[in-house]
Amino acid sequence: MSDATPILHMLSPQKHMSPFDVNMAADAGYKVIVPYINVTLEEVTALTQDAIFSRPPDFGKRTGLFIGGKDAILALDMLEAAKKALVPPFELSTFADPAGSFTTAAAMVACVERVLRTKFNRGWKDTRIAVFGATGVVGFAASIITALEGAKVKLVAHRGVDRVIKSAAVSKERFGVDLEPAPGETAEQKAAIISDAEVIFAAAAAGVQVISAHDKALAKDLMVVADVNAVPPAGVEGMDLFMDGAPLPGCNALGVGPLAIGDIKYKTESGLFKQMINSDKAVHFDFRDAFAFARTLTT
Ligand SMILES: NC(=O)c1ccc[n+]([C@@H]2O[C@H](COP(=O)([O-])OP(=O)(O)OC[C@H]3O[C@@H](n4cnc5c(N)ncnc54)[C@H](OP(=O)(O)O)[C@@H]3O)[C@@H](O)[C@H]2O)c1
Repeated sequence: MSDATPILHMLSPQKHMSPFDVNMAADAGYKVIVPYINVTLEEVTALTQDAIFSRPPDFGKRTGLFIGGKDAILALDMLEAAKKALVPPFELSTFADPAGSFTTAAAMVACVERVLRTKFNRGWKDTRIAVFGATGVVGFAASIITALEGAKVKLVAHRGVDRVIKSAAVSKERFGVDLEPAPGETAEQKAAIISDAEVIFAAAAAGVQVISAHDKALAKDLMVVADVNAVPPAGVEGMDLFMDGAPLPGCNALGVGPLAIGDIKYKTESGLFKQMINSDKAVHFDFRDAFAFARTLTT
C-alpha cells in the first residue's frame, strides 16, 4: 500500500459540509480533510482534476472525494462528473452520501432484510413496501435499493402526488425500476396503503409521526416496520429506539428502530471510508455499494 497521506476533499452544494461526515472521515483514518461549500455541478470536473494531477498515480489511491449535500440526484450527478473527470492513471476514489442518506437507507434495508429472512423466511422479491417520506433523500434511496431487489414499492405522497410521480419517473430513467406513486393525503388513502403493505419504511422528517397507533391497527399483512426518525415523537407510535426485530406493540408486525439502523449506518459509512483509504485501486461508492456493504454486517 502507498504510504501517501490520506487526503479527503469533501464537496457540498450547500453552505455547510456536514460535521457528522467530517468526524466520520477523520475517525476512519483520513489525515487531511478539506471541505468545499456551495459547489456547483459544473465545478466538479475542475476540482477533481486539480486533485488528481497534483499527486503521482500511486498516491491517487489515497486521495478521496466525498459528495454531501441534501439532494440525491445532484449528488449522483456530481459523482458521475467526478468519475468522468478522471484521467487514468491519475485517479481518486469517490463516495456520495448526501445528508447521510445513502448509508442510512442502505442500513435500514439491510436491517429489515435480516428480520424478513430470519423471522419470516422471506426475501425482497414481490414484497409489498410502502415508503413514507418518499420525497426525502433516505426514502428515495431505500425505494430504489429495494426495487432493484425485486420488491413492489409504493412512494406515499403526504401532500400532492406530483413530486412522487416525478421521483418514480427519475428512478425509472436512471435505474430502470418501477416505483408506484401512491396518493396518501386522506385518511382513506392512507388506510388502504397501510392495510396492503407487508413492509413499511417510515422515513419522514425528524420529529414527524407518520404511523399512529390507529394506523398500525389497520395493517393486515404487515411483517416489518422500520423507523429512521430518532427525534421524538417516534415516526411510528410505540417504536423503541433500539428495537431490532422485536414485536411492535399494537400490531402483529416486528419493529426496527432508528438506533438499530443507526448502528449499521455508522459502521457502513466508516467501513466505506476505510475501503477508500486502504484499497489498492480507486473505488467509487453510491447507495448500491452502501447496501452491499451494510448487508455484510447483517448476514
Ligand atoms: N437513524 C439514522 O441513522 C438516520 C440518519 C440520517 C437521517 N435519519 C432520519 O431519516 C429521516 C429522513 O431524513 P431525510 O434526510 O431523508 O429527510 P428529508 O429529505 O428532509 O425528507 C423528509 C421527508 O419527510 C416528509 N415529511 C415532512 N413532513 C411530513 C409530514 N408531516 N407527514 C409526512 N411526511 C412528511 C417530506 O415530505 P415533503 O417533501 O413533502 O416535505 C420528505 O419526504 C429523518 O427523520 C432523519 O432524522 C436517520
